[in-house]
Amino acid sequence: MRVLVAGATSVPGLPLLRELHARGHEVIGLTRSPSKTTEISAAGAEPVVADVFDSAQIDAVVAEFAPDAVVSLLTTLPKWGPKRPKDFEPATKLWSIGAPNLVAAAQRAGVRRIVAESVIFAYGYGTTGPALMDESDPYPGPPPPKGAGFLGALRGMEQTVLSAGGIVLRYGVFYGPGVTHDDLFRRLAKWWAMPAMTGTGILSWVHIDDVARATADAVECGRPGQIYNIVDDRPQSFGDYVRELNKQLGWPRPWPISHKLVGLVASYPAAAFGRAWLPMSNAKAKADLGWTPIPR
Ligand SMILES: NC(=O)c1ccc[n+]([C@@H]2O[C@H](COP(=O)([O-])OP(=O)(O)OC[C@H]3O[C@@H](n4cnc5c(N)ncnc54)[C@H](OP(=O)(O)O)[C@@H]3O)[C@@H](O)[C@H]2O)c1
Repeated sequence: MRVLVAGATSVPGLPLLRELHARGHEVIGLTRSPSKTTEISAAGAEPVVADVFDSAQIDAVVAEFAPDAVVSLLTTLPKWGPKRPKDFEPATKLWSIGAPNLVAAAQRAGVRRIVAESVIFAYGYGTTGPALMDESDPYPGPPPPKGAGFLGALRGMEQTVLSAGGIVLRYGVFYGPGVTHDDLFRRLAKWWAMPAMTGTGILSWVHIDDVARATADAVECGRPGQIYNIVDDRPQSFGDYVRELNKQLGWPRPWPISHKLVGLVASYPAAAFGRAWLPMSNAKAKADLGWTPIPR
């Protein structure tokens, strides 16, 4: 297939380019920046420079390359992850304007397969729920404090993709090589400065290599109009994640810190990592995509 990837230089972008290339697809990677074309070429894709906020330009690019599939990895967050709702402003603009421009361009060019990045936080930030949640109730939870705007934009982007017959992938929290927020956690852990935040929240996680494989699987055989959770088999609290990280590194148990205290300086991680109840099932992705996360 000929696959155009927008957000090619994002954290999940380069691993996806490599995965699609390894599977024999012809891959086109979009960037706004001529200086990033080398890394796209090195990942086995043909670079193209365009901005998704320029709808005429993105229309022309999609029409010219005539891909069989378009993948939107159009999310942009601070390098070390968001600390407060304000940090979502650039992503909110991408979800409200950029991704819809791309979907419209794909539709005008007659592209039949559209796959878009979302995240488990699209389910909302509820603090209780069943032991395992699936895709059947797509929006059960409320926004985090002061986060109604960005959560609405994320959910709106999903609806644009689904209405166009596209596929939405709700990734868990990334970890693994090249994941910049995880690199930070590891670096802090090495300096014994990565606290294990306490709280009742449970999250779903996913290794970045599993993200690349699942996304390529969705391009090849996902069902149109479906949401898939792309998450590990084992949901885990943030505190347990940090404790495991320290164990892997051979360091002593990390010191605990209350999510309430974290919330005084970083309101978003406290809500998302300390309180949100998001133990997600990956059964649908396994059944439909034939994908399974590699046990690590
Ligand atoms: N599920 C998760 O855990 C998750 C998901 C996403 C991000 N994160 C975290 O958030 C942090 C940032 O990661 P990120 O992937 O968001 O990195 P990023 O470097 O901000 O990636 C943004 C991507 O969107 C593209 N883009 C932005 N505006 C565009 C526009 N107007 N037109 C075309 N393309 C545009 C960028 O392309 P160019 O810059 O090449 O033009 C880039 O490829 C990291 O710590 C990461 O781990 C976590």
